[in-house]
Amino acid sequence: MVLGAQAPGRVGRRPVFAHDQDPQQGILIVWTGDRRSLCLPPAHAVLDCFEMELRDSDLVLRDWTVDDVPAIVTGCNDAEIAHWIPLIPHPYTEADALEFLEGEILPDQLKLAMQLDGRVVGGIGMTVNSHDYRGTIGYWVARDARGQGICTRAVRLLARHALEDLELQRVDLVTDPDNAASQRVAEKVGFQREGVLRAHLRHPDGRIRDSVMFSLLPGDLRE
Ligand SMILES: CC(C)(COP(=O)(O)OP(=O)(O)OC[C@H]1O[C@@H](n2cnc3c(N)ncnc32)[C@H](O)[C@@H]1OP(=O)(O)O)[C@@H](O)C(=O)NCCC(=O)NCCS
Repeated sequence: MVLGAQAPGRVGRRPVFAHDQDPQQGILIVWTGDRRSLCLPPAHAVLDCFEMELRDSDLVLRDWTVDDVPAIVTGCNDAEIAHWIPLIPHPYTEADALEFLEGEILPDQLKLAMQLDGRVVGGIGMTVNSHDYRGTIGYWVARDARGQGICTRAVRLLARHALEDLELQRVDLVTDPDNAASQRVAEKVGFQREGVLRAHLRHPDGRIRDSVMFSLLPGDLRE
C-alpha cells in the first residue's frame, strides 16, 4: 500500500500528472536527473492512487509506504532533527511515524522518502500555496547518511520538479539562523537568502525563534 501518494488536487491537476484524462487510472511518472518520461498509462498496473517518483541516478524520491516506518523511527529519533524542526516530536515513536503516514493528505502536499541504493535515508516534502505558484520545501536526512550531498541532490530534484514540471514561480524554505548545514544545502542548490523572519517559530521548549527565509526562482537553480 502506498501512503502519502498524490491524490487528485491542485498539484495533481497539473498537466504533468495528466490524470484529468482518466481520473480512475493512476499515471506513473518518472523524472530522472536530466530527463523525464511519462508513461501513459502504466503498463503494469491500474493504480488506485497516484504515485510519483523523482530519480537522480541512485537517489530516488518516492511516496512513503508502511514498510518505511522503522526507517522513519530510526531516522527521526535524533534530537538534532527535533531541535531544528519544531513539529517533529522527540522521542519519536512508531505511533508518530504512523500518524505522519496516515495523516490527512492535503491536495497540495508532497511527502516523499529519500531512498539511496534501496535504503531510506531521509524525507523531503513540499506544500504548494493555494494559488499554485509557490512551493515550500522541508527535509531531514538520517544522521549516518549526512555529509554525502544527499540532501542537496534531493532538494535539487524536487526544486527542479517544482519549477519545470509544476511551473511554480517560486520555491522557498526556512531554516533556523543557527542551522548551518541546512543553509548550506539551500545555497548549494541556488536558493537566495532573503532575510530574517523575526520571532517566527515556536520551538518545543517554548522559545520563539527567528528563521531565515531562502527562495529559488526560475533560473536560480544550480546543477
Ligand atoms: C540539514 C540536513 C538535511 C543536511 O543533510 P545532508 O545530506 O548532510 O546535506 P548535504 O551533505 O547535501 O550538505 C550539507 C552541507 O552542510 C555542510 N555542513 C554540515 N554541518 C555544518 C556545520 N555545522 N557548519 C557549516 N556547514 C556544515 C556540509 O559540509 C555540506 O556542505 P559542503 O558540501 O559544502 O561541504 C541534515 O543535516 C539534517 O537532517 N539535519 C537535521 C534536520 C534539519 O535540520 N532539517 C532542515 C530543517 S530547515
